[in-house]
Amino acid sequence: MTYHHRQSDLTFLHILSVALSIVQLTYASFHSANVIRAVEQVKEEYDYVIAGGGTAGLTVGDRLSADGKYSVLVIEYGIFGGVLAGMDPSREFVIPSIPQAGLNNRSIPVVVGKLVGGSSGINGLQFFRGTKEEYDLWAQVGGNGSTWDWNGMLPYFKRGIHFVPPLEYLAKDFNISWDMNAWGQDNDTRVFAGYPNYLQPELKLFYEGMVKMPGIEIPKDGNAGTDGLYFYPTTMDPASYSRSYSRTGHWDGINRSNYELLISSKVTRIVFDGNRAKGLSFVPINGNSSQITTVRARKEVIIAAGAIHTPQILQLSGIGPTSVLLAANISQMVDLPGVGTNFQDHGYIRGPQFVWGAQPPVPVVNTSGDPKTGLTANLGAIIGLPVITPEKVESLAQAFENQDPAQYLPKDAHPHIVAGYKAQKDAFAKIFRSKNTAWMWLILGGTPSFGPAHQHPMSRGTVYIDPKDPSGEPIVDYRAFSNPIDVATMIEMIRFTRKYMASETFAAYKPKEGQPGASVESDAQLENWIRRQYIPSVYHPVGTAAKMPRELGGVVDEELLVYGVQGLSVVDASIMPIIPGCPTTMTTYAIAEKVSFQTPFNGVKANHQQAAEYIKKRTQG
Ligand SMILES: Cc1cc2nc3c(=O)[nH]c(=O)nc-3n(C[C@H](O)[C@H](O)[C@H](O)COP(=O)(O)OP(=O)(O)OC[C@H]3O[C@@H](n4cnc5c(N)ncnc54)[C@H](O)[C@@H]3O)c2cc1C
Ligand SMILES: *[C@@H]1O[C@H](CO)[C@@H](O)[C@H](O)[C@H]1NC(C)=O
Ligand SMILES: *[C@@H]1O[C@H](CO)[C@@H](O)[C@H](O)[C@H]1NC(C)=O
Ligand SMILES: *[C@@H]1O[C@H](CO)[C@@H](O)[C@H](O)[C@H]1NC(C)=O
Ligand SMILES: *[C@@H]1O[C@H](CO)[C@@H](O)[C@H](O)[C@H]1NC(C)=O
Ligand SMILES: *[C@@H]1O[C@H](CO)[C@@H](O)[C@H](O)[C@H]1NC(C)=O
Ligand SMILES: *[C@@H]1O[C@H](CO)[C@@H](O)[C@H](O)[C@H]1NC(C)=O
Ligand SMILES: *[C@@H]1O[C@H](CO)[C@@H](O)[C@H](O)[C@H]1NC(C)=O
Ligand SMILES: *[C@@H]1O[C@H](CO)[C@@H](O)[C@H](O)[C@H]1NC(C)=O
Repeated sequence: MTYHHRQSDLTFLHILSVALSIVQLTYASFHSANVIRAVEQVKEEYDYVIAGGGTAGLTVGDRLSADGKYSVLVIEYGIFGGVLAGMDPSREFVIPSIPQAGLNNRSIPVVVGKLVGGSSGINGLQFFRGTKEEYDLWAQVGGNGSTWDWNGMLPYFKRGIHFVPPLEYLAKDFNISWDMNAWGQDNDTRVFAGYPNYLQPELKLFYEGMVKMPGIEIPKDGNAGTDGLYFYPTTMDPASYSRSYSRTGHWDGINRSNYELLISSKVTRIVFDGNRAKGLSFVPINGNSSQITTVRARKEVIIAAGAIHTPQILQLSGIGPTSVLLAANISQMVDLPGVGTNFQDHGYIRGPQFVWGAQPPVPVVNTSGDPKTGLTANLGAIIGLPVITPEKVESLAQAFENQDPAQYLPKDAHPHIVAGYKAQKDAFAKIFRSKNTAWMWLILGGTPSFGPAHQHPMSRGTVYIDPKDPSGEPIVDYRAFSNPIDVATMIEMIRFTRKYMASETFAAYKPKEGQPGASVESDAQLENWIRRQYIPSVYHPVGTAAKMPRELGGVVDEELLVYGVQGLSVVDASIMPIIPGCPTTMTTYAIAEKVSFQTPFNGVKANHQQAAEYIKKRTQG
């Protein structure tokens, strides 16, 4: 079984057509001056100490240290990723889930990055945002006056990214359009959004077929707040066609004596002085794991260990649900039932898969580019339920509206968690029927094989420390399909994909369905197949330290400060209250940018102007 899941698990990356090209990706070989390899070099105290040098951790570290006023130490579990092939356990955590009752007791691992740069260093490079409705949802569950909505996020989406439009011949051949108002290009960052110089000609056929599906819209730019069919960029440096990630954007080439990175070190817990977070304890990864070192933070401790390990660090520090801490014999610092709950990810299914009865002719396009620059997929239909199923959207929406939220949470769920899930349901119900709530992401690859991804599972899982081994890997439970609406909507995504293949565009090529086979047709048959095949992770774990009011099960407030203590924040994918309908990197960068520049960080504001000047100098030099 394990082998099977591991295989399926890899499939989503194959769907992104990453397999070969990731192997060819090389990493920049220069380091910044301030990499700490020996614990003796760690100072006793810094202004900010950050747990996790991943996507968000390095972004925040860069911004806080930019004007030279504050000292920053980042403590990272992994090392610098070398030139390695595909997925490699030396630079990723692969943590099996507990058996999933809704998936015939299968166990499916969650995979997250374990290297400098975190998951942005191993991910599939797909780079786009959710829609306006999806971020506005965050503010609706975010408490009165929350600024975590589309308008509040947009400046920080733009800030963290340098967008480079596609080459003219590609734009012309493939009808790629973009809206510069949606993008930042201000040279303040080396996190790039770019396109390859070659796209597979076959994509034209799949694009034309999708355009003709009823209800499909082509936005001028899918990153401007609406969804549909479009060519999105990837996190790729468009000069070298190599991976651009938080390490290349926020660490490499930066030489500041006040910005240090300790590698190969595992943060074990937060150290308190009364009610105030005073520092972090950590142990070496290679070497004596009882050798605990503590480093102090003058201003703030920032947890940025990602959605799987951030809740673990909080729980190990006594911040979390009472029952979880009791079971592990950890004395409670703050009763915060939301830590490790509200766990979400996208899911996908491999299929339906077709074979052509007659090979379509290859469309004529300008092929002067180099196929090797196409590191991954660029074309997707990211669409809402009224397009997926005009027939059933209303009955599905009503079924959802009529749900009693408590019924789909664990029986002993804390009243705050129930209230939060109800608030999410009430808010989501309002956009359930919207075309711009992205339910499905269908990557179009140029062959008739599909892996429809479910962008809005309503099931909520948990990530809790293991009472038998609290500092070992946490217990991951997706609670996949605990809310039946997820199966019902997935069924319609399969049917939409079939309708698409059965459309006139492809008739001459006689597509024949392999997996699961046309005979798998009724709701019951499809459900049965889905429960056997569904993978409840597309590597986008979020939500386990949500930014919501405390009485709704939230863990952090508007400024991402943890409730109930002082001097402690969470800055990473864990804070997303509801997963947006997009892969999660761009949103994670925006979270880190917003908190660095907008919120006072306990009264200390990073100097915007000086940061911009510094980075300008760096990109010119
Ligand atoms: C295989 C894969 C494919 C993906 N594909 C895409 C894609 O195509 N497009 C997209 O937008 N998103 C994709 N994602 C998701 C995206 O990369 C993540 O959502 C995002 O990078 C999360 O950022 P983060 O800062 O929350 O966590 P991370 O970037 O994962 O950073 C967490 C860091 O903390 C470190 N850490 C963990 N525990 C400790 C500890 N105890 N002490 C010290 N350090 C610790 C980790 O080593 C890691 O470096 C993918 C992710 C994966 C894993
Ligand atoms: C970093 O800056 C210091 C001081 O300006 C300088 O001495 C050192 O050579 C620099 N290191 C690198 C790797 O650029
Ligand atoms: C899953 O496991 C539970 C508990 O062991 C068992 O009761 C149930 O029958 C199993 N379900 C399937 C489909 O195997
Ligand atoms: C929002 O404000 C209203 C009216 O002032 C109040 O009744 C409500 O409790 C507030 N909600 C939250 C989540 O703070
Ligand atoms: C960014 O850099 C490019 C080329 O180096 C330049 O043409 C452009 O004007 C710069 N943008 C801003 C806003 O400075
Ligand atoms: C090309 O894209 C535009 C949106 O930018 C859209 O309005 C138009 O219909 C598309 N044309 C074709 C032929 O698909
Ligand atoms: C490991 O570190 C602990 C705590 O410092 C110490 O007591 C122990 O002797 C060390 N073990 C080894 C093998 O060095
Ligand atoms: C629980 O922790 C306390 C204090 O740290 C310790 O004295 C006790 O032995 C622990 N109990 C168990 C069962 O581990
Ligand atoms: C293809 O594009 C390249 C680069 O823009 C251009 O030089 C070439 O003339 C184009 N070829 C055709 C056949 O249009």
